[in-house]
Amino acid sequence: MNPRILIVDDDSSGLEATAEVLEREGYDLFTATGGRAALEILDAEDIDVVITDEMMPDMNGIELLKYIQSNHPYTQVILLTAYGSIDSAVEAIQTGAVSYREKPIRIELLRQTVKSALERRTLHLQNINLREQLDAKFGFANITGTSKPMQELFGMIRRIAPTNVTVLITGENGVGKELIAKAVHNHSRRKDRSFRDLNCGAIPRELVEGELFGHEKGAFTSATARRLGVFEQADGGTLFLDEIGEMTPETQVRFLRVLETQEFRRLGGDKNIRVDVRVIAASNKDLNAEVRNGAFREDLYHRINRFRLHVPPLRERREDIPLLANGFLLEFSKEHNLPVTGISPDAMNRLKYADWPGNVRQLRNAIETGVILSTTGAIQLWDLPPEIQAGPPALPPASHESENIVGRVGMTMDEIEKEAIRKTLADTGGNKTQAAKILKMGLRTLHRKVQTYGLEDKEDWQDEV
Ligand SMILES: Nc1ncnc2c1ncn2[C@@H]1O[C@H](COP(=O)(O)OP(=O)(O)OP(=O)(O)O)[C@@H](O)[C@H]1O
Ligand SMILES: [Mg+2]
Repeated sequence: MNPRILIVDDDSSGLEATAEVLEREGYDLFTATGGRAALEILDAEDIDVVITDEMMPDMNGIELLKYIQSNHPYTQVILLTAYGSIDSAVEAIQTGAVSYREKPIRIELLRQTVKSALERRTLHLQNINLREQLDAKFGFANITGTSKPMQELFGMIRRIAPTNVTVLITGENGVGKELIAKAVHNHSRRKDRSFRDLNCGAIPRELVEGELFGHEKGAFTSATARRLGVFEQADGGTLFLDEIGEMTPETQVRFLRVLETQEFRRLGGDKNIRVDVRVIAASNKDLNAEVRNGAFREDLYHRINRFRLHVPPLRERREDIPLLANGFLLEFSKEHNLPVTGISPDAMNRLKYADWPGNVRQLRNAIETGVILSTTGAIQLWDLPPEIQAGPPALPPASHESENIVGRVGMTMDEIEKEAIRKTLADTGGNKTQAAKILKMGLRTLHRKVQTYGLEDKEDWQDEV
């Protein structure tokens, strides 16, 4: 399909002349002699570029531009004016007009301006596409992770989310089990219905049944009114049962029955209640071992373990640390309104090789502490919590495999430099301030080189996984 151009000008002779020039370039031309007429064409046709006069009787060029930007964001605008007024030029550029040209415009310049507007549009569309692909590749919903195990996890979430299958999420404290449960819900057909959670380990064990199934008025002495349990509250949606290994054997029996029949009775009730609930369970215990030592029912275990998502501890996916750390840095510097924009290489090194028994939650807390304590605009080693500062001696950078640059005979200096920058960006999670320090290069120089070598996007510098 030919690119579609709309020319707007109240001077119809000028309009025809311009249209003729561009038609010869192989574009499909539309013309309007005023702003109102232009709006009608814009709404009806898929216009790529608008060339508009600035002064028109019914609507000025800037107003038209603003309309286009909010209603047709991918349409590019070229603003022509007979009056070389600086003020309107500035306004035009601030609102994002592609080009601002003085009338009369030379034919060659017009051709060129239209051509680059079309290129801008293509790039713009590609960027949007790319961003979607990047989201899919480097994070899923708001779960950060580029490591292989996390990528595999995202793939599994995508596949199981639309089904109704019961899911068991396992992993140590703070690895992100709840975040994953929510991602499953948010990618399911139930996403507009409720997501309810119950942490079986956070309430006295004998109260869990009441929380799950609710009770009728008078079911026990303190039951002064009917109360709905989480099963009923989650009807049509998803119920997340955390620390499921903490259920008493009696509750496990009742729970298994509900899973099989989708029916239950409130405590003290005699009526069966039907619900449509998808259950996601989580545990940081080894449930298999619990089954072996008799604490967890084997039949229930098999019922919920049909589909398992295991989230590995952070120390087994250290390549996710820089990206996570920088994400939390951004989050907390915004939340606390503090001008902390980086993590020093020493501090990052310690973060990367710490043990993280509390996993992502502990890392998140460490970054919050760092942001609050920092006085230098970056998180320094001494801003981190003592247990992280005192961690195992940081490994020298050269021992980390991503720091080895693969070269070959005949590689140009530019290629070597590009590779060094790429690896360093991958290692710092894209933090340029830090990368510049490691590379002993000025930040502006690094910015320029990043542009020259086309390393702006994560996809360009990320290590293959
Ligand atoms: N991959 C991740 N990307 C971004 N944030 C994460 C990620 N994993 C965990 N978090 C954050 O870390 C914290 C702990 O995560 P979450 O509560 O989901 O862990 P959990 O496995 O349920 O922990 P617990 O076993 O203690 O219940 C939360 O603030 C969560 O937002
Ligand atoms: Mg949790």
